[in-house]
Amino acid sequence: MSGIAVLAIDGPSASGKGSVAQRVADALGFAYLDSGALYRLSALAAKQAGVVWSDELGVACIAAALDVRFEVGLTLLNGRDVSAQIRSEEIGVGASQIAAFAVVRQALLARQRDFALAPGLVADGRDMGSVVFPQAELKIYLTASAKVRAERRYAQLIGRGDAADLAAITHDLQERDARDAARAEAPLRQWPDALLLETSDLSLDQVVEQVISWWKTRS
Ligand code: DC
Repeated sequence: MSGIAVLAIDGPSASGKGSVAQRVADALGFAYLDSGALYRLSALAAKQAGVVWSDELGVACIAAALDVRFEVGLTLLNGRDVSAQIRSEEIGVGASQIAAFAVVRQALLARQRDFALAPGLVADGRDMGSVVFPQAELKIYLTASAKVRAERRYAQLIGRGDAADLAAITHDLQERDARDAARAEAPLRQWPDALLLETSDLSLDQVVEQVISWWKTRS
C-alpha cells in the first residue's frame, strides 16, 4: 500500500461523491474504490443467505467471504449482476446498519486496501481518509445540504424508472446520516485534515474541476 498515491473522498449519503470520485479517477488514470458498494454487497449477500442484519458475526462472515467482481459499469456477486439491486433504498439502509459493527468493518478492511495499486487510487466512502487510507495525500469531505442530496437521490431513482417519494427519501437520508455519524466505529465526520467541499450550488463538472485542481496543487 505504501508509495501508492491515494485521494480519499468521504461524505454523507447521496452527496454525489461516487460520481465525482469515478470522474476524477478516470481523469487521473487511477483506480476507483466505491467502498459503500462493499457494505451494500455485504447487506445483500446476508439477505440472500437468510442472515439478519443485526447478526454481526453472521454478517461479518459473509463480508469476509464475499465473491465480488467489479467490471466496467457492473457489480457481480457470486457471478450475478447485482448493480441495480445494491442501489435500492432497502439495501442502502441495510448497509448503514451492518456498517456500525466493528467486526464487519474489519472483515472489509484488507479488501479495500487491495484496491491501492499503481499509479494511484481514488476512494470514496465514510472512513477512507480516517481509517482505511490514513496516509492519503489528499482528503476531501464532500457534502451538500440534506435537501439537495434528497433531491439528487430522488432524480436518480426517477431517472432509472423506479418509484420514489421525496419525503420518504429525505427521512431515510437523515436517519442514515445520523446513524453513520453517531456510531463508535469509524464515524462519518469532517476530520481536521480533510478539505471541505460544499457542493449544494455546484455542478458535477465544477466539483470534479475543484478536486483535480486541489490534487494538482497538493503539498
Ligand atoms: O456510500 P453509500 O451510500 O453507498 O454507503 C452505504 C452505507 O455503507 C452507508 O450508509 C454507510 C456505509 N459505509 C461505511 O460505513 N463506510 C464506508 N467507507 C462506506 C459506506
